[in-house]
Amino acid sequence: MSDKIDYLLEDIETITPSPEFVAASPVPTDLDERAKADRLGFWAEQARDLHWHTPFTQVLDWSDAPIAKWFDDGELNASYNCLDRHVLAGNGDRVAIHWEGEPGDTRTITYAELLGEVKRAANLYESLGVTAGDVVAIYMPMLPETIVAILAAARIGAVHSVIFGGFSADSIRQRVEDANAKLVVTTDGSFRRGKVLPLKDTVDAALDGGGASVEHVLVVQRAKNDVSITEGRDLWWHDEIAQVSDEHVAKAFPAEQPLFILYTSGTTGKPKGLLHTTGGYLTQASFTHRTLFDLQPETDVYWCTADVGWVTGHSYLVYGPLANGATQLMYEGAHDFPDLGRWFELIQKYGVTILYTAPTAIRSYMKTGRKIPEAYDLTSIRLLGSVGEPINPEAWEWYREVIGGNRVPVVDTWWQTETGAVMISAIPSQTSLKPGAAQKPVPGIVVSVVDEQGNRVDPGEMGLLTITEPWPAMARGIYGDRERYVETYWSQFPGRYFAGDGAGVDKDGDLWLLGRVDDVMNVSGHRLSTMEIESSLVDHPFVAEAAVVGATDETTGQAVVAFVVLKQSQADKIAATDPVSDLRSHVAKDIGSFARPREVHIVDELPKTRSGKIMRRLLRDVADGKAVGDTTTLTDSAVMSAISSGMAQGS
Ligand code: WTA
Repeated sequence: MSDKIDYLLEDIETITPSPEFVAASPVPTDLDERAKADRLGFWAEQARDLHWHTPFTQVLDWSDAPIAKWFDDGELNASYNCLDRHVLAGNGDRVAIHWEGEPGDTRTITYAELLGEVKRAANLYESLGVTAGDVVAIYMPMLPETIVAILAAARIGAVHSVIFGGFSADSIRQRVEDANAKLVVTTDGSFRRGKVLPLKDTVDAALDGGGASVEHVLVVQRAKNDVSITEGRDLWWHDEIAQVSDEHVAKAFPAEQPLFILYTSGTTGKPKGLLHTTGGYLTQASFTHRTLFDLQPETDVYWCTADVGWVTGHSYLVYGPLANGATQLMYEGAHDFPDLGRWFELIQKYGVTILYTAPTAIRSYMKTGRKIPEAYDLTSIRLLGSVGEPINPEAWEWYREVIGGNRVPVVDTWWQTETGAVMISAIPSQTSLKPGAAQKPVPGIVVSVVDEQGNRVDPGEMGLLTITEPWPAMARGIYGDRERYVETYWSQFPGRYFAGDGAGVDKDGDLWLLGRVDDVMNVSGHRLSTMEIESSLVDHPFVAEAAVVGATDETTGQAVVAFVVLKQSQADKIAATDPVSDLRSHVAKDIGSFARPREVHIVDELPKTRSGKIMRRLLRDVADGKAVGDTTTLTDSAVMSAISSGMAQGS
C-alpha cells in the first residue's frame, strides 16, 4: 500500500478562477472557515435554508452510530421544498424543466405546472392506498413524469426505489421483492437510438411469478408501443391522473423519514439497497448543488446528463436543482442519436450554462475529435462538472478547452451512492484548479487518507480514503440489513467510514482519487460487482467456473473481462453454439445490457491460490496485456502461461 505516486510531489500548474467569475459568484467566501469553526452549526445553518414545517433544535445524534440522525426533531416535506416554496415565493412561472425527447419532441414545464402534476400524482398514489412508509418502485426512462413520480412519493412520505431503466426483469424482481414495493410506476416504452425499449414488458416479466407485494402498476404512455394490461393491477397514468384533484396539501414528515432506497453493487453478489432519509439528505444535496455549481437560479440553465436511475440523477437532477429553484434541461435519449452532435446541439439550443457529466462521455468525444463540438456555439457554458470516475488530466484539459472554450472552471466531484451528495470537490469561485484532482473536502466534511493500519499517509503516498465525521446526506444503512452496512463500510477502520476508494494527497494537501481498491468495477461510471457478474455466468448451464475482472479501457475507464471454464459434460451442446456470444448475452439479459462483458475468454483452468482463492490480480494483468506479476502463491503457474499465451493468440 505504501506505493509512491511521483506526480503528487511535483509542482502542478493551477488554474485560478477569472476575476469576472469570482465577482459574479453568489457563493459566500467564508464557508470553509465557518465550517471549521463550528461544523454542526454550519450544517444547521445550511439546513435552515430549507423550509421546515417544524424547526429542529437538535443537529446531530450519533448515539446509534453508524446510523446517524440529523435535525431529528424537525419536520419537513421534500416535495414542498422542491416545489411549493418556489411557487409561494412568486417563482411559479420559472421553468423547472426544459425536456427534450429523443425523437425531438419537447416540453417546457414551469415550477407551478410541475407542482400541479405532483399534487395530482400524490392524490393518485393515495387513492391507490399508498401511504407513508410504503415503497414505490419506479422503472422509467428520462421523462418529466419520472420526476413527478419521485416527488409524489416524497410528498406523501412514501419511499421511492428508482430502478435504472437498463436493468433486466430479474434485477427488477430482486429489488421489488427486497423492499416489498406496493406500487410500480413504469412506461409502455422509451426511445433509445431510434428504437423502442419495451419497459412495461420487462416489468411484466419481473412480476410474473414474483413481486407479490405489488398491488398496482401505473403505466405512463410514452412510445405508444403495444403493452398487455393486467386487469385489476395495471392502470394507465393518463386515465387515472385526469380523475384526481390538483389540490394537495403537503404534510410535514420527520427529518429522518425514509426518502428513498437506491441499490448499488458491492463486493458481494447481492446488490445493496442504500437507505436515505429526508432532512440531512436534502440539506447536503441542495447545499452542494448551489455551492459547487455556483448556481444563479434566475439565469442559469443547468444540465446533468446522468440518468435518474443512478444516484447522480437523484441528487443532481431531482433534489438538488429543484430544491434550489434551478432551471434545468432533461434529455430522454442517447448522446449519439441521430449523430454525435446531439448533446452540443442541445447545449446550443437551450443555452446551457452548467454541464455536469462523466469522464467516459468526455473521453468518447475526445476519440471522435473536436470537430463535432466545435461545429456548435457552446459559449453559453460557464461551468463544467465531472462525476462518477477518476478523470485523467488529459480528459480534464480537453473538457475545459474544447467544451469550455478555455474559459471556464471544471469541478471534479467525488462521492458515492452511500454518501448521498458530493463530498470532495473544488469550489469554482474559490479554488485554484488542478486538472485531474477532486482536491478539497466540501466545507463541513472531514476526510483522512490512511494506510491499511489507519495511519494518515504522507503526501505522495497511495492510501485509502476514509471519512472521519458523520455528514448529513450519509446513508442510514442498507435497507433491512444493519449488520451488512456496519461490516461493509465501518469495520475496516472502526468509527470511520471506508469508501472503497484509493486516494493520495499531494504536497499542497489536495486530494486525488485513484479508483476502487476492492472488487467493484467502474464501467462508464456505472458500478458493477465482479461477484455479481461471476454468479450470473455460473448460472449458465455451460459454465463450471468464472472469474471477472475490470480491465483498463481507454474510454469507459474499466471494461468487464470474464474468464470462464466450461463444463466438460456439456461439450456437445457447446460445440453447436457460439459460447462466447451466448455468455455475453446471458449476462446482459440477466443483469442489464450495461453489464455485458467486453470479452469472454474460455480457459481450461483459473489461477488460484493454494487456499483456492481466484487470483483476479493476475487475470487483470493478463486482460491489460501486462507482464504477469508474482505467481508464487499460485497452485500451478502453468495455468497462467496457458491463459496468457491463449490471450496473445486472441482466443
Ligand atoms: C467512483 C457516483 C474518482 C468512486 C456518484 C466511487 C469517482 C464510485 C468520482 C461511486 C470522482 C465517483 N473521481 N472516482 N470524481 N466520482 N467515483 O455510487 O470509485 O455510482 O466509489 O456514485 O464511483 O459510484 P456511485
